[in-house]
Amino acid sequence: MTDSLADWLRLREAADWEARSPRLVQQVVDTIACDGPMQVLDLATGTGSNVRYLAERLPGRQRWLVVDRSPDLLALVTDRTSSWGRARDYQVDATAMGLRVAHDSLDCEIETRQRDLCDLNDPAMFAGRHLVTASALLDLVSESWLRSLAARCRDAGAAVLFALTYIGESVCSPVEAEDELIRDLLNRHQHTDKGLGGVAAGPGAVAVAERCFTEVGYQVHIEPTDWNLGSAQGDMQRYLVDDWARAAGELAPDLLSRIASWRDRRRAHIDAGRSRIVVRHHDLAAWPSKS
Ligand SMILES: C[S@@+](CC[C@H](N)C(=O)[O-])C[C@H]1O[C@@H](n2cnc3c(N)ncnc32)[C@H](O)[C@@H]1O
Repeated sequence: MTDSLADWLRLREAADWEARSPRLVQQVVDTIACDGPMQVLDLATGTGSNVRYLAERLPGRQRWLVVDRSPDLLALVTDRTSSWGRARDYQVDATAMGLRVAHDSLDCEIETRQRDLCDLNDPAMFAGRHLVTASALLDLVSESWLRSLAARCRDAGAAVLFALTYIGESVCSPVEAEDELIRDLLNRHQHTDKGLGGVAAGPGAVAVAERCFTEVGYQVHIEPTDWNLGSAQGDMQRYLVDDWARAAGELAPDLLSRIASWRDRRRAHIDAGRSRIVVRHHDLAAWPSKS
């Protein structure tokens, strides 16, 4: 499971970066006042894609705490971030806690920490953070988890940036008769408990997060960050189609042969280079309102 998740995170990294909103990042940065290094917490970091995306977009001096439940994925944060840094001629050094990447004005220290985030009862994790961030996470978490996250962030006075939350919409072309059925089943599957506080907010997560952060006095900004996948992203499309078929089959075992037929027709479109898939996401940024 971790191997296949690591493969998936590698496959999606370029599309994620292409889709994300640099404008929201800049808006968040503009609201943060820090004299020393920016203290950043990345929740459910996976293999560290969010760190690599943000490192060159935040002020140069950064101290990251990156948390995930999977030690195997966390080990890849170091591997992939080292490769990323060396490809840019950055200085990369292992540290007792993780990794340091430096170049000209960039001075980025990354501490990895294995922790199950099923609850957020760890005030020390949030204390002193200027920015709490995550990517591809919010649709997995429950409303109560988001409420607790908003309270923790408010107590720390941290700005937040949550990237790439799936909003329940996708468009496949060429069209197949079952596209809508599969999407509906997937969206129902998104509401199953993913181990992060109960029934997941799924495609409603951005709206729930907007409400939770507004209620604790934050200004919230949202931008669309869709994937537009074409023939150059065939492997990613194949992974998506297989994953959607698996999720749909779990909820509708009586439809397994129809779902498999849909998957095979979609795979044929991908193999022929004529498939396009748009998956709609939102990025959300928020920061404490000035009173
Ligand atoms: C879709 S991946 C996103 C990874 C990364 N943020 C990215 O954008 O590439 C979701 C991540 O959530 C982590 N995760 C899921 N449930 C978790 C939990 N209960 N505690 C900590 N991490 C969890 C997974 O291990 C995985 O790395």
